[in-house]
Amino acid sequence: MRMDQKQDLETLGIALAAIPGLAIREREPLSAHTSMGAGGPARYFVEVDRRDALDPLLELLRSAGVPWMALGGGSNTLFSDEGFEGVIVRPGRDFRGIREGDEPHTIVAGAGANLSAVMNFAKRRGLGGVEFGVGIPGTLGGALAGNAGAGGQDICSITESVGVLTPEGERVVRGRGEFKYAYRKSDLKRDFILEATLRLCPDAPEAIQARIDGHLGKRKEQPVGHRSAGCMFKNPPGSAAGRLIDQTGLKGLRINQIWVSDKHANFMINDGGGSVADILALMNRVRDEVRAATGVELETEVRVVPPAGLPPEPDAQGE
Ligand code: EPU
Repeated sequence: MRMDQKQDLETLGIALAAIPGLAIREREPLSAHTSMGAGGPARYFVEVDRRDALDPLLELLRSAGVPWMALGGGSNTLFSDEGFEGVIVRPGRDFRGIREGDEPHTIVAGAGANLSAVMNFAKRRGLGGVEFGVGIPGTLGGALAGNAGAGGQDICSITESVGVLTPEGERVVRGRGEFKYAYRKSDLKRDFILEATLRLCPDAPEAIQARIDGHLGKRKEQPVGHRSAGCMFKNPPGSAAGRLIDQTGLKGLRINQIWVSDKHANFMINDGGGSVADILALMNRVRDEVRAATGVELETEVRVVPPAGLPPEPDAQGE
């Protein structure tokens, strides 16, 4: 980090406090904002409660040149034990709304809305297609950034358009074909996601409920209720990371407070107070052992954020 950037961070708090509609916390532990319950402090943790606070905030962050990133529910993100020497921005109150869209069978939801709330809103209106979201602990914004999904379905596939603020500060609506996505990735994570319009299908309440029950049944095979980040690795083409880890005999493998779930091998659990260093060490150990046993290279699914900001992302469909 540059010397002047350190100074920028010192003085940034004053400029942040001058913007109405922000809830600002300094040196906020990220372990409190990630489902895995690990990670050091964010220099600033800013919740944007008012819609009109966003433009001045992002303008300030751009001009200060400090590292910043958007965070949703923190269910698929790992920070380091050093934390994040920059600004974490979370869409707050004004970004949680869910409403019916102008076109039939569409709903519009804010980036900060919980995916399960979106699912319930759709269900009450007899609209199906987002049932896979039941039990995915995260926000719509986070889900779009990582193209969250389950059971072969994902959020980007049912998304008609996404309203964003680009890195240059422009408000843009990206329609279908204007954002790229693939299995568990999307190029929307480069933008600050504001809201999305989902295109759903009218269906009988019993049929919707049956699909929800099916997804909830799958969840029973997972260590729900423990501190985890969901699946740690992507499924390799034609295979399942959980099965490979299980077959390699790694269930229960532990480094201090972090261990490979004995219920579903693609989950790692933090018993409490575990470090990110231990999580990363366990992930490396699992990757090495699976490679040695099966020849398959596991790719990380969770987003690992270095202390001073994110490295440039490869193209969403590249790699
Ligand atoms: N398996 C094992 N041992 C295990 C776990 C799984 O042998 O410990 C086997 C299962 O028996 C099955 C196969 O591996 O034959 C696949 O397992 P499962 O059906 O549980 O689904 P998954 O592919 O591991 C995916 C998503 C989950 C999502 C479920 C349910 C990925 C990486 N994971 O898991 O998403 O909840 O399907 O739809 O795509 C997440 O993304 O964080 C996540 C948890």
